[in-house]
Amino acid sequence: MNVINARLRGRPGLFRIELNGAAIAAIVPQPDVVAPGAADDLDAAQNLVVPPFVEPHIHLDATLTAGEPEWNMSGTLFEGIERWAQRKETTTHDDIKARAKKTIDMLVDHGIQHVRTHVDVTEPGLVALKAMVEVREDVRHLVDLQIVAFPQEGIESYPNGRALMTEAIAIGADVVGGIPHFENTREQGVASLKFLMDLAERSGCLVDVHCDETDDPQSRFLEVLAEEARVRQMGPRVTASHTVAMGSYDNAYCSKLFRLLKRSGINFVSCPTESIHLQGRFDNYPKRRGVTRVAEIDRAGMNVCFGQDSIVDPWYPLGNGNILRILEAGLHICHMLGYEDLQRCLDLITENSARTLNLGERYGIEVGRPANLLLLSAPDDYEMVRSQGHALVSIRHGEVLMRRTPAQVHRRG
Ligand code: FE2
Repeated sequence: MNVINARLRGRPGLFRIELNGAAIAAIVPQPDVVAPGAADDLDAAQNLVVPPFVEPHIHLDATLTAGEPEWNMSGTLFEGIERWAQRKETTTHDDIKARAKKTIDMLVDHGIQHVRTHVDVTEPGLVALKAMVEVREDVRHLVDLQIVAFPQEGIESYPNGRALMTEAIAIGADVVGGIPHFENTREQGVASLKFLMDLAERSGCLVDVHCDETDDPQSRFLEVLAEEARVRQMGPRVTASHTVAMGSYDNAYCSKLFRLLKRSGINFVSCPTESIHLQGRFDNYPKRRGVTRVAEIDRAGMNVCFGQDSIVDPWYPLGNGNILRILEAGLHICHMLGYEDLQRCLDLITENSARTLNLGERYGIEVGRPANLLLLSAPDDYEMVRSQGHALVSIRHGEVLMRRTPAQVHRRG
């Protein structure tokens, strides 16, 4: 299969991308627009061809459960955790698999082929984790799935929390998670971070911590995570998710913190729609945005990307799998609608996210890499966001996985 009349990000002109089986065989400059020749030519119509979108932060065990058995009436993160604890009592292996697969279909429909899901392991039977390990195999033809062992109710604060984390990694989780700001005390939060970093170092797993997901400016576990990563030289394998307290840190502390963050080399995930919904709930006016400093992290040369976090769960009632919706909202919320940001905004849901997931040479439009790519509906990043564009075709392992027909408007002449 060949993709013709393709634009590539950061390279002028048009290209023909030749796919040979499951790999990209050649990328050939085209002097002019060409008409489709062979029957299996796909015409990009002078629009962008990019590697697949990435979902770096979602909770597939919780999706599609909002209102079961009760709605989150306060809209706070902590009521969400309470509502989830109720729903968790009725989850079953089959229930989790069915909802996760339905959600993965929603992600695939929007061009996502790489997913990192957090899975709650604060449950003695590890039912959700065992189900998700099966899902990871069942959906290999659709997405590459990374599973985070995520201690929703704490490591130190939950009975046998450490043992459950260790068992989850032994069963097959890819990534070690954490939630230090939820532990009962600051000391427990710090201890949980040292424990989870030890576990990751021992097992060779990646790390992704829900870190400082609170408006409390005194929540300062990010500095502990970054220092642990720096000392162990694990930074590129470590991700700090949310870090929304950073939006409430004062600038003097943040300028010191950024020195450490840069030296640590860790990655950041922001979930802007979820955070602006859940945070700021204890404020009168002026009301904080409750998101991390995405633009500042990016300007400082560090790696940051956007995720959806939830789709119709106790924390967030909306969502449809479309990461472009998160990108558009995030650019607004994070004050990133400047010209230069718009020129390269797709980085926040492609290249930066792939780096967070440590995808390496398994990702990108390069000869020899997997034949996984998207045909988009616009010629550049700016127009893709402005026009609220879509992934029109998703190709995986050299075959069409999803094809979208855009809606047509008929206007009276
Ligand atoms: Fe999350």
